[in-house]
Amino acid sequence: MAATIPNDEKLWLFFTLPQIITFENIISTNLTSFPFLATLIVLYFLGLFTWAIFSSPGGPAWKKGRNHMGQVPIPSPKGLPVFGSLFTLSHGLAHQTLAYMAQGFGSKQLMALSLGSTPVVVTSDPEIAREILTSPYFADRPIKQSAKQLMFSRAIGFAPSGAHWRLLRRIAASHLFSPRRILAHESGRMLECTNMVNAIFKEQVLHGVVSIRKHLQAAALNNIMGSVFGKRYDLMNGEGNMSHEAKELDELVKEGFELLGAFNWSDHLPWLKHFCDPSGIVQRCSSLVPHVRRLVQLIIDEHRERRMNNGSDASENSDFVDVLLSLEGEEKLQEDDMVAVLWEMIFRGTDTIALLIEWILAELVLNPTIQSKLQNEIANAMESAATNSAIAKLPYLQAVVKETLRLHPPGPLLSWARLSTTNVSLSNGMVVPKGTTTMVNMWSITHDPNVWDNPAMFNPERFLHNSATAGIDIDVRGSDLRLAPFGAGRRVCPGKDLALVTVSQWVAMLVHNFKWIQHETNPIDLGEVLKLSCEMKCPLSAVAIPRNCFVTKQYKY
Ligand code: HEM
Repeated sequence: MAATIPNDEKLWLFFTLPQIITFENIISTNLTSFPFLATLIVLYFLGLFTWAIFSSPGGPAWKKGRNHMGQVPIPSPKGLPVFGSLFTLSHGLAHQTLAYMAQGFGSKQLMALSLGSTPVVVTSDPEIAREILTSPYFADRPIKQSAKQLMFSRAIGFAPSGAHWRLLRRIAASHLFSPRRILAHESGRMLECTNMVNAIFKEQVLHGVVSIRKHLQAAALNNIMGSVFGKRYDLMNGEGNMSHEAKELDELVKEGFELLGAFNWSDHLPWLKHFCDPSGIVQRCSSLVPHVRRLVQLIIDEHRERRMNNGSDASENSDFVDVLLSLEGEEKLQEDDMVAVLWEMIFRGTDTIALLIEWILAELVLNPTIQSKLQNEIANAMESAATNSAIAKLPYLQAVVKETLRLHPPGPLLSWARLSTTNVSLSNGMVVPKGTTTMVNMWSITHDPNVWDNPAMFNPERFLHNSATAGIDIDVRGSDLRLAPFGAGRRVCPGKDLALVTVSQWVAMLVHNFKWIQHETNPIDLGEVLKLSCEMKCPLSAVAIPRNCFVTKQYKY
């Protein structure tokens, strides 16, 4: 955010033209189809020609003064005809581009853009973000074609905010995310972590360096599989040793992540789907769905059979499938809805956790003083025989997690946008028209020097609030929009407590068992890439030196 950009509406060229000229986005979406390329080129030149005559602030989705419905108009950079700002935002780091645009156009409170025919507003302001996220008129989400095809329209994240969505949230809140359930799954969570620590140790001994992401992803996937499906796989043994089912699951999840995170031109240029399938997304979704359905259905059937043989009471240790199967009457879910809800949990619960821990470790490698301070805090707590839950709440550990969420929010645009269900008046005099895709740029807020001192610096001390330090005591779970990486309001992330407990406990174990240092030929690169989550562009490789306290199978706090 340090760059200063002149406040000039014509700056849209600065953000838009370079993207078009390189055509990098077109190529990067694997568009080999000639009709698609030809259509785009023709439309582009047609667009340029008509732009001079028809261009409107905000682009094609904001015609007829839609950005001018309140006392105060929504600032809107000009967009290309037909495409609007599609070329600018279809690839690369959209959260950063939008942050610079908002700064340049003086539109941090709200900025209107067009993604093809989709009207979009983005805020980079904590107060307006709070208004939007907590308003009942922004409680729906726009749904992407891939999410629809992958059955997510009936799952929690994309279901419209009616009775079905409320039922799903209630069930998930009490049977998957309540403090009682989180505690009940503690032994499984720690088992996954112990296995991960052992696998890291093995790789360090064999190769002298560890590529950490695959370990974190395998542990996170297995952990969520344990609490949702009651099933664990041997995912850490290398591909050759995986069972057929584990390998299939691994592949299905990876393909699903890619499809959900991919930018689909047809979402914003609906007419395009009549000509071609730009990134092959429709076709890939169609072939993925039957596999997912079969795999999840198999697990549901196994549970059904077990319940018939052993009785059907959902006990404290039962998994989420058991809970869904035990619902009766109006609460009973249809088979397809069950598949969707279960599948969504696997998606949401895996990558976010793994990628956040990877960012934390990268920052700890780059900041050895902070790493050893954290190690001391954990060692002291262990000496006094603190429990896992107590360790997860240690103040410095919490500060490190918060500071990483601030610098590297996994969903910098809060991943899933909201949709206005009516014309909504905001306190600043602007009106967001009905049917507008509404995004909060959390990255922009957490990197804003007007909100945070020295925002580019990794400084957990800013969150230490005690007699010695004057840090701020902030709850990251949605009550303070200066740092709300889990969103806020009625659609806030329901998995936030589970995520925070898992991340804290696993980071504690990883830094207690290893000293993490930079590998000389793999220097750490904090570059980002935005997919379904914002991840490290160059996955972290680091040296994990076992510490004196290293313990393997019998690991116990
Ligand atoms: C570091 C970890 C995580 C982060 C940063 C994160 C972030 C988010 C964000 C930003 C949203 C949108 C909130 C909004 O619109 O206000 C969300 C929604 C959601 N998250 Fe998470 N999440 C994480 C972990 C999890 C986990 C572990 C699960 C479940 C196992 C989960 C399940 C969901 C679901 C189901 C929704 C949709 C809620 C709805 O629309 O009603 N998340 N998450």
